[in-house]
Amino acid sequence: MWRRHVLAAVLGLVAALGTVAAAVPPSGRALAAGCAAMSDPIRAEIRALELSGIMKIATTALEDPEVIPLWFGESDLVTPDFIRREAIRALEAGHTFYSYPRGIRPLREAIQAYLERLYGIRLDPDRLHVPGSSMLAVTIAGQCLLGAGDEMLLIGPYWPNIRNVVRVCGARVREVRLEEGPERWWLDLERVAAAITPRTKAIYVNSPSNPTGWIAREEELRALVELCRRHGLGLVSDEVYHRHVLDDPGGVAPSVLPLVEEDEPVFVINGFSKPWAMTGWRLGWLVGPRRLVEPLAVLAECDNTGATVFAQWGAIAALGPEGEAFVRRFVARCAQNRDLLMTTLGGHPRIRLLRPEGAFYAFPEVVGIDDSLAFCRRVLAEVKVGIAAGYSFGEGNRRHIRLCTAIAPERFATALARLVAVLDRL
Ligand SMILES: Cc1ncc(COP(=O)(O)O)c(C=O)c1O
Repeated sequence: MWRRHVLAAVLGLVAALGTVAAAVPPSGRALAAGCAAMSDPIRAEIRALELSGIMKIATTALEDPEVIPLWFGESDLVTPDFIRREAIRALEAGHTFYSYPRGIRPLREAIQAYLERLYGIRLDPDRLHVPGSSMLAVTIAGQCLLGAGDEMLLIGPYWPNIRNVVRVCGARVREVRLEEGPERWWLDLERVAAAITPRTKAIYVNSPSNPTGWIAREEELRALVELCRRHGLGLVSDEVYHRHVLDDPGGVAPSVLPLVEEDEPVFVINGFSKPWAMTGWRLGWLVGPRRLVEPLAVLAECDNTGATVFAQWGAIAALGPEGEAFVRRFVARCAQNRDLLMTTLGGHPRIRLLRPEGAFYAFPEVVGIDDSLAFCRRVLAEVKVGIAAGYSFGEGNRRHIRLCTAIAPERFATALARLVAVLDRL
């Protein structure tokens, strides 16, 4: 309050001195200058946010039809029609009203049955929430675990949005990078343990991983859960690529869900975007501690007041037999692209690349560059291929780039040929 009074007084004085035309109300710029001179009411964490190395590239050429986009985490497939039809049916039936912030009951029941089929566990429905997108579910998990001055340990290389979630909560990021090679990415649990400080509140792990394609083995997840138990830490397990097991289309990656008790501070994130080509639907789910049923419902209410209702009716169809057939085809296509990538880029003298096991990305190091953002800009300008700059996936990735492997194989092959042309000129 006092700041507003001081600000008003200063602006009044400036106006009185004639440096501002008396008749003109203070402009946004004058206000910002005033704030900088005193103290800015906008939180420093918010002012410091900047676009990721994905967005910095993509926003410059999003509408250029000649660009082959490998920057975002999505395919070029439209959501299958058996899902779209159900959403249209719901819209026509008038499902256009507010509903439960935690998600409509038939969808939560369908997710419960799906998880039982995948992991053989019958979840208490009070642990299941559909607040909106998986992104929102991650944000809610952050809100539950992190406050000012806390730290979250991120297993890197990591999806850049998680870092921003931590910062928006007022907390700080610490990173432990996966070990790179010789055959695969892997988690050194001793390094994770060594990075824990008295301020550490939680660990974030994402398997199958964006961007590396690492799939945590069940023993790795079990050890991580034990570590969290020993240190009293929360765990956020982001499993949105759970169906993208490239060597087993139709298979399922290990999950922490069967490894934890119902009231542990563990948040398992999942969603519809990745397995069923539903990125624009903004629908995901969260399995949280049972004791948080009410707080999580309130958070869902504050953040979004629930996911789009007719979209939720459509999503139920994704969890049925037609959805399974789609997942199989889609993952097989991503595996085909991964194989092509390994034969075209894998042996290139400018590329160091581990074979991705899961998700739909590759995260190679480009030997001889020092600035991934500049390299991505060059690739975009010279050959019209959109890729993401590795530096924003955490420490140690200045020379890495991320490519999405989910688009149609013919287009993907063209994109790779263009990229190789740039690499050959390095
Ligand atoms: C690791 C990870 N988690 C969560 C999300 C968010 O997915 P959604 O589209 O459901 O918000 C993404 C999206 O790229 C992701 O890569």
